[in-house]
Amino acid sequence: MADRAAGPALRPPLKWAGGKRWQLPHLRPLWVPHARRRLVEPFCGGLAVSLALRPVRALLNDGNAHLVAFYGWLKRGLEPSIPMENDEALYYQHRTRFNELIAEGRGDCAEAAALFYYLNRTGFNGLCRFSARGLFNVPFGRYATIRYVRDFSPWKAALARWDFRSGDFEAVDLEPSDFVYADPPYDVQFTHYAKGGFSWDDQERAARWLARHDGPVVLANQATERVVRLYGELGFELRFLDAPRRISCNGDRRPVREVLALRNVG
Ligand SMILES: C[S@@+](CC[C@H](N)C(=O)[O-])C[C@H]1O[C@@H](n2cnc3c(N)ncnc32)[C@H](O)[C@@H]1O
Repeated sequence: MADRAAGPALRPPLKWAGGKRWQLPHLRPLWVPHARRRLVEPFCGGLAVSLALRPVRALLNDGNAHLVAFYGWLKRGLEPSIPMENDEALYYQHRTRFNELIAEGRGDCAEAAALFYYLNRTGFNGLCRFSARGLFNVPFGRYATIRYVRDFSPWKAALARWDFRSGDFEAVDLEPSDFVYADPPYDVQFTHYAKGGFSWDDQERAARWLARHDGPVVLANQATERVVRLYGELGFELRFLDAPRRISCNGDRRPVREVLALRNVG
């Protein structure tokens, strides 16, 4: 079947932890024979995969409501009118305004989406972190230079026929023929800290949910012993990949081993 990409690959507009652009040489050959299907990403994050594969139809979900509200405005046509500069005082001014909008229950307005973009590009490491009271608390990022996008029209066109929703992955309404690419937060095996609030119970819940789907499924995760066992026991085909090296603060340069767990892919 011909590649039915709806347009050329686009870069993600945000910085987002765990971006999977690097997996595309492995994912594209799995997707292309199914390219007429709807692509569903229950954990869409920075959209690196969908924006590269450019499916005609997609359903994109993430638990982060601010992220999904931002995509909603990209789709409607985001035209930021706020000043955007790599300046510490302006950063904290915009952060305060973003939190005011959240406190007023207006975290999903166009101004909040523009501020979300600015804070993501300008804040520390593109982190998206909120206090217990739900307020954005990431410090200024101290980048040498930042190129802000002011014309979002290429993303508007790309997102035009895609559906977005925000919530837990299990509430995503799958059609039997959907192609699912699932990239949950990493399993962090040897700590009690669950990355992104995603516990081992959630990992098991995700695996069982994916195993019930009739259509093609590609799951990506860190290849911890228990993740490999979980997907192996559920009958998924396993492929191992080395994630690109990132130098961590302690100088550890070992590549992270990742696993792709496949079902009904062909
Ligand atoms: C590893 S990131 C996905 C990265 C994405 N594949 C990319 O290339 O940019 C995992 C995402 O899962 C989301 N998430 C965490 N818990 C969730 C849940 N219970 N349901 C849906 N999404 C969740 C996080 O907000 C985060 O964006």
